[in-house]
Amino acid sequence: MADTTLIFHLSDIHFGLEDNRALDWVEREITRQRPAAVAITGDLTMRARHHEFAAATRWIRSLDAPVTVEVGNHDLPYFNLIERFAIPYKRFAGMQDLVEREIDLPGLAIVPLKTVARWQPRFNWSKGWITDAALARCLAAIDALPRGTKVLVTAHHPLREVGTQGTALTAHGAKALALLAQRNVLAVLSGHVHDAFDITEHTPNGPVRMIGAGTLSERLRSTPPSFNALTWDGEELQVEVCNLEHVPTPDMQIDSVPEDALPPRTPGEPVAPINQVPRTDPPVT
Ligand SMILES: [Fe+2]
Ligand SMILES: [Fe+2]
Repeated sequence: MADTTLIFHLSDIHFGLEDNRALDWVEREITRQRPAAVAITGDLTMRARHHEFAAATRWIRSLDAPVTVEVGNHDLPYFNLIERFAIPYKRFAGMQDLVEREIDLPGLAIVPLKTVARWQPRFNWSKGWITDAALARCLAAIDALPRGTKVLVTAHHPLREVGTQGTALTAHGAKALALLAQRNVLAVLSGHVHDAFDITEHTPNGPVRMIGAGTLSERLRSTPPSFNALTWDGEELQVEVCNLEHVPTPDMQIDSVPEDALPPRTPGEPVAPINQVPRTDPPVT
């Protein structure tokens, strides 16, 4: 049996509205537990402002572990459309080597899948969009791994389609999931919904596990700030949702991914008590 590998999955820090108490705690846990890798699945900032990226870069660079960073919908220039179209990732310059980075561990690889696009042919650009090029890059990286290597795919948006009631959460997500199901993928790690989840999506090619991490910002949805500790022992991938309030993992996980993953809560609103964590999709607002 392979040695146990510990990976921390962080998401949605949203510098500009970050929770510094939570970040100090995560930093201490990284120093204490020394994960083999830290995967940050996007939304580093609130509005991709320069000072927010500077704070994000400082904090991420200070972490004592190999880090890979996904791009979130909040991380593309919001106010400067020329920059958004021409050089959308310029503000990541201070951590360019970490963005969309593959991490290779013994028998296990973390492979990125970009789910944001500088524009989309629909009104809401905050939703996920997987381009053919992004999917091809991800699949080629997986297919180039040594035979038998297990894979954790990192994305910002959950890939799951939400059925017939509404538009897809992530355009081309179902296609991506079906192609990932044909490969040695242990799970697709994502953020964006600000609550943790651990679900299995069934595709025509078999099941794919989807694991979401909560937020480390003050943009709480229904659970306190948290991150996921993933443990791979060579046979099983375990997920522990770690949080400051010592709420057990099952109570921290929502059962399904809402169609509209934008947190409905605005800053200043009270957070729902943990014993009222909804077990079904909260209403879309
Ligand atoms: Fe977010
Ligand atoms: Fe997001």
